[in-house]
Amino acid sequence: MDTSPFEDLIPEMEKSLKPYREGFLTFAQLPAAGIARDEILREMERLKSIEEARWKDGKVSGAVYHGDTAHIDFINRVYALHSQSNPLHADVWPSTTKFEAEIVAMTARMLRAPAGACGTVTSGGTESILLAMKTYRDWARETKNITAPEIIAPTTAHAAFDKAAQYFGIKMVRVPVGDDFRADLAATRAALTPNTIALIGSAPPFPHGIVDPVEELSELARARGIGFHTDGCLGGFLLPWAEKLGYPVPPFDFRLPGVTSISADTHKYGYAPKGTSVVLYRDAELRHFQYFISTDWPGGLYFSPTIAGSRPGALSAACWAALVTMGADGYLRAAKAILETATKIKQGIREISELQLIGDPLFVLAFGSETLDIFQVMERMTQKQWGLNGLHSPSAVHLCVTLRHTQPGVAERFIADLREAVVFVTGNPDAPSGVGPIYGMASAVELRGMVRDVLKLYMDVLYRV
Ligand SMILES: Cc1ncc(COP(=O)(O)O)c(C=O)c1O
Repeated sequence: MDTSPFEDLIPEMEKSLKPYREGFLTFAQLPAAGIARDEILREMERLKSIEEARWKDGKVSGAVYHGDTAHIDFINRVYALHSQSNPLHADVWPSTTKFEAEIVAMTARMLRAPAGACGTVTSGGTESILLAMKTYRDWARETKNITAPEIIAPTTAHAAFDKAAQYFGIKMVRVPVGDDFRADLAATRAALTPNTIALIGSAPPFPHGIVDPVEELSELARARGIGFHTDGCLGGFLLPWAEKLGYPVPPFDFRLPGVTSISADTHKYGYAPKGTSVVLYRDAELRHFQYFISTDWPGGLYFSPTIAGSRPGALSAACWAALVTMGADGYLRAAKAILETATKIKQGIREISELQLIGDPLFVLAFGSETLDIFQVMERMTQKQWGLNGLHSPSAVHLCVTLRHTQPGVAERFIADLREAVVFVTGNPDAPSGVGPIYGMASAVELRGMVRDVLKLYMDVLYRV
């Protein structure tokens, strides 16, 4: 029974979310007889080729960070070789344990961790963040007797921190960013209470790509004897190389003594397939608060370092393979190509007078407009097959530059299409504005409940056959 007051929206949602209802194998129950492998593989090839066209040519923001055919083929071979492995059974697959230990060690070294630093491999940025926040909660409960824990994060820190707060019963205190879109130090200091267990800064935050003042924030945390988490999910595998190339990278890693944990996503600029990230801690004592151990379960002694029980060892194998096939020289070359492309695109955006680039970011390029509806511009770009990310408070969009955009002609095509989109919206002030109205509703406090209902419905539709 569907009781949603927003039922009218369902057909539109289904149109974009369910394009394969006709002409493709579809099952609402198990087929009575198994389908031949060849037929399934043909179906998979069809789906892959349709969807590959969306990102292969570099028209999507973020999403696929490497994407070269030879790299993908190599990763897929490694995945296939280890598809049966499960790190939960370290006795059967010690290779997975080896891969994960080395992934953690290589990431820690890259982020200048001191001797004694440690970490775990997780399923993605969100899990790394969830685990770091759970770790601080349990650490503060045991060592500081804090039972009503609070964390402080700038408004721009990833929503995964809110998820962690919700899941683990932590109060989230959001503080505004300054005019420069960096965390406001004074606001952070003013929000501290005796229950604060950790502060958060991002290198960089997802929305505008401008690295927070991690040095000052982490000193504030150190002076209070609380944790400081650098969210390097997005920049952890790019900023170290950007720094080596001479780009202005504010300090964010373990060289800052107040930084007690860092998340860095191997499945973004680490160029591993989707499904891995690393969470690092300054010392092993902190990591102990992340672990789960059950000693009285009839199923045996049960323990796991991260949220999942059984896990895909193949993803750790593929992640390890991505790291070592790239090597330091490969990461440096990739960073150089990405940053040079981003510089070119930034310049192009700055030359379009109707648009304003937000700050001076390195590779996540956010821009808005004082004169046009930026969501109309985004919608026009969507019509030209560009997948940009919409942002709100303030209204803006961003392009997260990856290796896909470093292919010849992509930056030039992006700027040419953006120019055309601006001219189009200027001449057609009533052009559709896509996600604009929904972001407008989300910005109005009294309408947020409605937006939540629409998003619930959206997620329900995802699971409709
Ligand atoms: C800064 C930052 N933190 C955390 C995340 C969450 O990562 P994931 O989507 O892998 O869970 C992202 C994702 O884009 C991010 O940009």
